[in-house]
Amino acid sequence: MKIELILTADSIKTERVKGKATVAIDTFRATSTILTALAQGAKEVIPALSVEEALSYKNTLSDVIIAGERKGEKVEGLDLGNSPVEYQEQQIQDKSLVLTTTNGTKLLLNLSSARRILIAAFLNLSSIAKAVKGEKELIICCAGSRGEFSLEDFLTAGALIYKLKGLKSDLKLSDLSLVAYQNYLTNQGQLAKVLKESEHGRRLLALNKEADIDYALQQDALFLVPSYSEGVISCKRKSLENSF
Ligand code: MLT
Repeated sequence: MKIELILTADSIKTERVKGKATVAIDTFRATSTILTALAQGAKEVIPALSVEEALSYKNTLSDVIIAGERKGEKVEGLDLGNSPVEYQEQQIQDKSLVLTTTNGTKLLLNLSSARRILIAAFLNLSSIAKAVKGEKELIICCAGSRGEFSLEDFLTAGALIYKLKGLKSDLKLSDLSLVAYQNYLTNQGQLAKVLKESEHGRRLLALNKEADIDYALQQDALFLVPSYSEGVISCKRKSLENSF
């Protein structure tokens, strides 16, 4: 299996991902939130680029929750923000969640030409590794933050490669994938410490969102493999092994 890595949503080129199997990562916090919403029983998640677009679903869908952040904070007028720890089963179960975030939703929309788009974070790495192990070629796509490299997504990509190495012996890593893997090996015992010192980690700490960081760093707390197709993220297998 050949593995490539793209560092930011903004650097995804349609032609590069067209027809390919991809994994989308926005660990802080969009993909962690999407996974949590689905684990809590949301019917589907619909990414929307703008707050206006997200709100427009109020007119077209019944049983809908509109959520999202700008500058890390819940947008006024929306039902929820982008803190995975705030997503509760009683509010979200059997609802459609429309989510608009700064980088994560852009990442998904920029991947639209791919053949397969799976949603990953530390929360579901083993499930994702098992789901992609039959692919000949995989492109791991990080959201990054505001067009820049983001360490938490890079380390999540490295951790996914680590899981894949446990399942397959024939990995051919691009140089960037190799560095992500090596960086994960170096930091795997101190992820919380390292990522609380990262730029995105510091921004979340400044917003009193440390619980989101700790939650998002739980490896394999969820066993689900959501995929994004035709504008909707859904998931066949759902279960929430550990509650939080
Ligand atoms: C994003 O999509 O930009 C994020 O998930 C940002 C955040 O909520 O911290």
